[in-house]
Amino acid sequence: SPKIRHPQKIRPSRGFAELLNIRPPPKVRPSKDLFGIMPAKQNNRACRIGKCTYHRVLYMEILVHSVVMAAFILFQILDDGGDLTHWIYKKYPNMFKKIKGIVEESVTGVHRLYQLSKAGKLCVPAMNVNDSVTKQKFDNLYCCRESILDGLKRTTDMMFGGKQVVICGYGEVGKGCCAALKAMGSIVYVTEIDPICALQACMDGFRLVKLNEVIRQVDIVITCTGNKNVVTREHLDRMKNSCIVCNMGHSNTEIDVASLRTPELTWERVRSQVDHVIWPDGKRIVLLAEGRLLNLSCSTVPTFVLSITATTQALALIELYNAPEGRYKQDVYLLPKKMDEYVASLHLPTFDAHLTELSDEQAKYLGLNKNGPFKPNYYRYLLLCCNVK
Ligand SMILES: NC(=O)c1ccc[n+]([C@@H]2O[C@H](COP(=O)([O-])OP(=O)(O)OC[C@H]3O[C@@H](n4cnc5c(N)ncnc54)[C@H](O)[C@@H]3O)[C@@H](O)[C@H]2O)c1
Repeated sequence: SPKIRHPQKIRPSRGFAELLNIRPPPKVRPSKDLFGIMPAKQNNRACRIGKCTYHRVLYMEILVHSVVMAAFILFQILDDGGDLTHWIYKKYPNMFKKIKGIVEESVTGVHRLYQLSKAGKLCVPAMNVNDSVTKQKFDNLYCCRESILDGLKRTTDMMFGGKQVVICGYGEVGKGCCAALKAMGSIVYVTEIDPICALQACMDGFRLVKLNEVIRQVDIVITCTGNKNVVTREHLDRMKNSCIVCNMGHSNTEIDVASLRTPELTWERVRSQVDHVIWPDGKRIVLLAEGRLLNLSCSTVPTFVLSITATTQALALIELYNAPEGRYKQDVYLLPKKMDEYVASLHLPTFDAHLTELSDEQAKYLGLNKNGPFKPNYYRYLLLCCNVK
């Protein structure tokens, strides 16, 4: 409760702390803190949030122990972006003795897990849900194909027809954004670093360019790379007046927004999630959601997509929890294909869709079990973006 003022009264019991295999929190001393956030001065120890006064150390302790307790009870980490995994790894590495596995749903989090695995530092099995076909196609591709338009419309009320748009990254999210904007009559340019995705963009009818080549002429810049500083201050300086800049990729790293917080530039909030950044010569760029994810900040995510993602995550958690000893080692795994197919089949009735069953003869001919899995793990479920209208 925020009204508690005496840290000693709610410190977790020693037994609980021992159970969690962590040291009980230290006694509050004015000059020391848990995360280096507490100022040395004693009279700065209290902080106000709303109408209540908190003790800073107490507040952090409550927060830390709630999260630790949740992880402890669950025995598993369900993460999106890898931050929780990273935090527990840094602060409470002993907890991994009790955790049965990690389920990670984002591109970036999965990338971090593979890095840990490569360095031999992953100490529990991890399930890469992001690369499950059902998650990737729906959350990354189909969802972004719809929510990019929704987010842009709600924030800018613009017309898309004839607008020049550059989309950085032609992965799943980029493909969805490109398809949507092309279908609305926009002229779409793509930037890529991967020759395969670049070739796909060309074959889907998009002009592959370097960002520098089109930055002066485009009306909208959208980042979808999962990378950092894809749009730099130099790009922002060269954009034309009223250019809209937004991010559909990872967190707030893709656009170098920090570089815009300099004295010569003026920020004007024109409506919720929409800022005009004004240069000394009067040029304005329209920055959406301060560089955070456009669709998560400014539009809604369809419940159907959430259902698919949540089902995939739940199955991954159950699989890791129930798996017999030794099935999963300290490595990163994909959800078994059969479970991916199961997630899809659970969602088919929404469309009153009727699935064809293999006859015994056909199953034998293809060398398949009649109940799946129907495709090998290496099968790619490609989407031809140019056909999406
Ligand atoms: N907005 C959302 O709702 C949403 C949904 C799913 C995923 N995401 C996030 O979007 C990001 C991309 O996801 P994805 O599934 O498309 O990943 P992806 O790996 O399929 O695609 C990213 C693409 O960007 C390219 N790329 C990397 N650096 C680049 C650069 N500097 N310039 C141009 N291209 C570059 C890569 O080669 C790759 O093809 C991730 O961070 C993911 O977490 C967002």
